[in-house]
Amino acid sequence: MLKKAVIFTSLLALLFAVWTDRASDYIPTAVSKFFIQSSQSPATEVLLTAQELQLYNGKDRPQLYLSILGEVFDVTKGAKHYGPGSQYNFFVGKDASRNFITGKFNDKDASDLVADLSHDDLLSLKKWKQFYRKEYTKVGKLIGTYYDENGQLTPQGKVVKNRMKAAKQKERDEDLQKRIFPPCNVEWSQESGTRVWCTELSGGISRDWIGVPRQLYEAGSKLYRCACISDKNKELGSIREYDGCEPTSTSCFIKT
Ligand code: HEM
Repeated sequence: MLKKAVIFTSLLALLFAVWTDRASDYIPTAVSKFFIQSSQSPATEVLLTAQELQLYNGKDRPQLYLSILGEVFDVTKGAKHYGPGSQYNFFVGKDASRNFITGKFNDKDASDLVADLSHDDLLSLKKWKQFYRKEYTKVGKLIGTYYDENGQLTPQGKVVKNRMKAAKQKERDEDLQKRIFPPCNVEWSQESGTRVWCTELSGGISRDWIGVPRQLYEAGSKLYRCACISDKNKELGSIREYDGCEPTSTSCFIKT
């Protein structure tokens, strides 16, 4: 009974301590550290202002930092690319996310705004961020366009995150479309005109069936592309045979 009461009282003290953020007053440090740190963001997260980030340029501070989409990385080990006078020194001490896409490496065009970029560009940018996460150490976050002074995503940050999610989803949908309806091979010659044909590898999609060339129409559109259609998938899309081509032929000449 006494044992139960001790456990109950300790639990109450712990809850109270975590709630009041004054664990050290009530319970041993190691215990409070575990409970309190696990309920807060990691202590090592650094938040930098643009002015602070600017200093990490290899001169004012020995380290080289850059930011991409508000995540700050220590790129000192890549000094041959980023050091003063090097090819990509432009990216140092700032967030120039947009310039990873535009390829304009001058301060006049420096910008971290990317919400208006195309899906493909956003996916390229995502790959750059993943590159830095893999190759370099993350230092923290830049307070500005993407993160606020509490390290939380800003409304603009959320817009970009959601657009990137949409871009990724579109890429997945297109990949799936390509697997179901692989593109045809196409060739043109002056004598015979355009020929489309299917193989087990056409469209770069390796498969154990060949399929027949068909016009595959985009939903609600007059636009179509040539796709290799398997017997199994022939009911799925909006498809039309090529005029003058045998329905079972794996190769068709396009009449103009
Ligand atoms: C939008 C255009 C481009 C951007 C944003 C860009 C960016 C970068 C960055 C950030 C690095 C350093 C990567 C690291 O930390 O290891 C790099 C490396 C490099 N880039 Fe570019 N680059 C662009 C275009 C080009 C072009 C057009 C060429 C060639 C004509 C080129 C050639 C190189 C080479 C040779 C390296 C060094 C690779 C190595 O030694 O590991 N880049 N690029």
